[in-house]
Formats: sequence, C-alpha cells, structure tokens
Amino acid sequence: MKFLVINGVNLARTGKRERGVYGEETLDTINSELQAFVKAHGHEADFFQSDVEGELCAKIGQADGNYDGIVLNAGAYTHYSYALRDAIAGVSTPVVEVHMSNVHAREEFRNTSVLTEVCRGEVLGFGKNSYKLALESFWL
Ligand code: DQA
Repeated sequence: MKFLVINGVNLARTGKRERGVYGEETLDTINSELQAFVKAHGHEADFFQSDVEGELCAKIGQADGNYDGIVLNAGAYTHYSYALRDAIAGVSTPVVEVHMSNVHAREEFRNTSVLTEVCRGEVLGFGKNSYKLALESFWL
C-alpha cells in the first residue's frame, strides 16, 4: 500500500517549539522513522508539510486515487478549517486524523475537531507513535 503523511501548520517546527508537548525530535527525524516503519511492513509513504491551508487542501485533492490512505496532522487547522474538512469530504481516499498531544487534556478550543466527522478515524496522544498507529490502522 502507498500512504501520504501530511503535516499542517507549525508542524515543521516540531522539535523546536513546545518540546514538552511535542517532543525533541524534528519532523524530518520522525518522517524518516515513519518511512522505515512503513517499508519494514512492505508499504510505501510520501511526506508533505505546509503551513498554508490552501496548499493542504490542494494536496489532499491531488492525492485522491493515488494513495491507499492519508495520515493527516492538520495542527491548529483541525479546530476550525472548514476548507480542510471539505477537502477531506471530497476525496474517496480514507484519511486518518492524527495528533501527537492529547488534545482533550489541553485548552478547550483543542477539544473540537471539525475534521473527525469526515475522517475514517482519529489517533491522538501518543507523540510520534500516533502517526505509526494511524498508518498501522490501514493494514491491521
Ligand atoms: C496538534 C494539536 C493541535 O491542537 C496543535 O495546534 C498542533 C499540533 C498535535 O499534534 O498534538 O499544532 O495537532
């Protein structure tokens, strides 16, 4: 299977920002580990990051039909982007929503996701392993 791992706004700064919440590893390090993880299970993955909402929507649209699954950490867009929600609703490729932190144990605005309803499922609170669990969900 072939997967697309998408990271949204501010996630390029993983390992530099709020390390107590998101850990000390950079996004490149995490993505390398995910690449190895996926390969070890006989699958493939591409990676994309953008801080720009429209670029994330366009990428999801372009991915439609070209991947078996999308793993998406939309960052703060999760909580209010109807554009991203529509992008996900508009593709047949299943999307699994991911968060490294337990968003339900944080500020109230993070308790709401406008994306979950149009996603296949959601994995949160397990740091970088949230991505691994989300990927695994496609082949388990
Ligand atoms: C996040 C949680 C969001 O609330 C936050 O805005 C992020 C990262 C997470 O991975 O825990 O940027 O998606």
